[in-house]
Amino acid sequence: MSKNIHELAHPWVRSLTVYEPGRPIEEVARELGFADAEEIIKLASNENAIGPAPKAVAAMRRAVRQMHLYPDGGAFYLRRALAKKLGVEMDQIMVGHGSNEILALLGQAFLGPDTEIVMAQGAFIVYRLVADAFRARTIAVPMQQFTHDLEAMLAAITPQTKLVFIANPNNPTGTVVDNAALERFMDQVPPHVAVVLDEAYIELLPPARQPDTLRYVREGRHVFVLRTFSKTYGLAGLRVGYAVGPRAGVELLNKVRQPFNVNAMALAAAEAALADEAHVARTRRMVAAGLRQLERGCARLGLAFVPSVVNFMLVKVGRGRQVCKALEREKVIVRPVDGYGLPEYIRVTVGTRAENTHFLKALEKVMKENG
Ligand SMILES: Cc1ncc(COP(=O)(O)O)c(C=O)c1O
Repeated sequence: MSKNIHELAHPWVRSLTVYEPGRPIEEVARELGFADAEEIIKLASNENAIGPAPKAVAAMRRAVRQMHLYPDGGAFYLRRALAKKLGVEMDQIMVGHGSNEILALLGQAFLGPDTEIVMAQGAFIVYRLVADAFRARTIAVPMQQFTHDLEAMLAAITPQTKLVFIANPNNPTGTVVDNAALERFMDQVPPHVAVVLDEAYIELLPPARQPDTLRYVREGRHVFVLRTFSKTYGLAGLRVGYAVGPRAGVELLNKVRQPFNVNAMALAAAEAALADEAHVARTRRMVAAGLRQLERGCARLGLAFVPSVVNFMLVKVGRGRQVCKALEREKVIVRPVDGYGLPEYIRVTVGTRAENTHFLKALEKVMKENG
C-alpha cells in the first residue's frame, strides 16, 4: 500500500501554515463575476500606487534582448551601486529574490531545533513562518501602542535566541521605533544574537527621519539591515531585495542561497531604480498626501486608525474580515489582519487620490450596511 504523500513529508512541514498574500485582482474579479478586472482597486499589498520607477522600466526594455543569458550570479553591478550609495563595502551586501528570500536564508543559516527567535507580536508574520519552517521557537513580545517594545524584546532574549527581528517601520501597524530606544537596544543586545533590522519601507521616510542603522554594520555588529525594491521603488513584481551585514554574515547567506537567485531583469531594473531620485520623491509626496486623505476620511466616518508613517494604515472597523469581504463587492481589495491578532482592523494601502476616494466611499457604504 503506497503512503499518502503527506506521510512521506517531514512531520513539521505538514503542520506549517501557508502565507496568506493580498488577493490578486483577477481572482477577486473571477470570484465575484465582475467582467472588467480593471475596475477593481487593489489596496492590499503595500505596493507603490504610482507604479515602477520610470528609469527601471527603461532599463528593463534594454535588458529584454539579453534574456537568453543567465544573470550575473554575484549581482556585481547592483552591489557596486548599492555600496556607493550606502557607504558600505560590496562584500557587506547580499542581493535576494525579494527581501523575503533573505528572511528565509537567515532562517536556513541560523535557525534549527532548540533555537529561538524574538519578534514583536504584531510584526511582519513571515518571521514566524520562517522560524516554524526551521523548527525554531518564536517568542512573540506584546507591542506597546502598536509599536515594538524594545525593552521587553531585550528581556525576552535567552541563550537559545539566534535572531531578533525588528520591522522598522513595521507592517501591518505602520509604526516606527524611537531612534533612541533602538540605540539603547543595540547597546545592550548580547553578542550571541544577530539583529535583523527589516527596513522594507524605510525610504518612504524623509531622509532626516531615517535611522542610521548602517552604522551598526560599519561597526562590525551582528546585524543585518534588510531593504527591498518592492515598495518605494515600485518593483514588487520583480522580486529584489538586499541585506547589508558583516562580511562573515553575508558570506554565510551566500553559502545557502541558490546560484542565480535574482533574475537579470530584476538586477537591471533595481540598479536603474536606485538612481531614480525623482520617482522616490514623487512616491514620498503621494504617500504623505494619501495618508492625510485617508486620515481625514476615516475621521469623518468616525473610525479610529493607527497613525502611520508609511504607505498603509490600520483602520478600526469592528469585524475586519467581514468588512474586507464586503469591500470586495464594492471592488476594493484590502487586507484583514486577524492573523496578526488584530481582528477589529483592516489594513489599507495608500492609493492614488482617486483610489483613496473610491475606497473611502466604499468603506462608508459598507460600514452603514455592517454597522
Ligand atoms: C516588513 C516587510 N518586510 C519584508 C517584506 C518582503 O518584501 P519583498 O520580499 O517584496 O522584498 C515585506 C512585504 O510586504 C514587508 O512588509
